[in-house]
Amino acid sequence: MGDDMTGEGCTRRSVLGASGAGVLGVGLIGLAGCSTGSKSSSSGSPSAGATSAGSSADGGSGGAAALVKLSDVPVGGSVAAKSAGKPVVVSQKTPGAVTAFSAICTHMGCTVNAGGNQFHCPCHGSVYDAFTGAVVHGPAPAPLTAIPVKVVGGDVVTG
Ligand code: FES
Repeated sequence: MGDDMTGEGCTRRSVLGASGAGVLGVGLIGLAGCSTGSKSSSSGSPSAGATSAGSSADGGSGGAAALVKLSDVPVGGSVAAKSAGKPVVVSQKTPGAVTAFSAICTHMGCTVNAGGNQFHCPCHGSVYDAFTGAVVHGPAPAPLTAIPVKVVGGDVVTG
């Protein structure tokens, strides 16, 4: 018997809420249309006008990575560097003529030392030409792996 009251109250609240909103909305529209003929044409929509053209090209580097500054590579010599976390050696025979090689010795995988016009492997004494990667002295069985590089903006980059 008394339980019916609870349900009725809830129903009444929701109905009132819905109708109230409807009345308010209609009332506002009616007022705006009747009292003043000027429609609110406030064009204050901040639609971030500058549609930035989104950088489609990453400066043209195309994934090339700088190994070392050209100025850090002595002419007629070489330096050690890293490429994608792997040891490499970069040499410059004549000004601007840069070459790079994997620093992994082809004998048993030690890292060769850069510094002059030859790369020396500390493990078993192999010697490589710093400008061609060729084996000067064994036991290395093959030249060092060449890495294509070029000079861009004063940096020696891969690619
Ligand atoms: Fe370089 Fe053996 S690993 S000479």
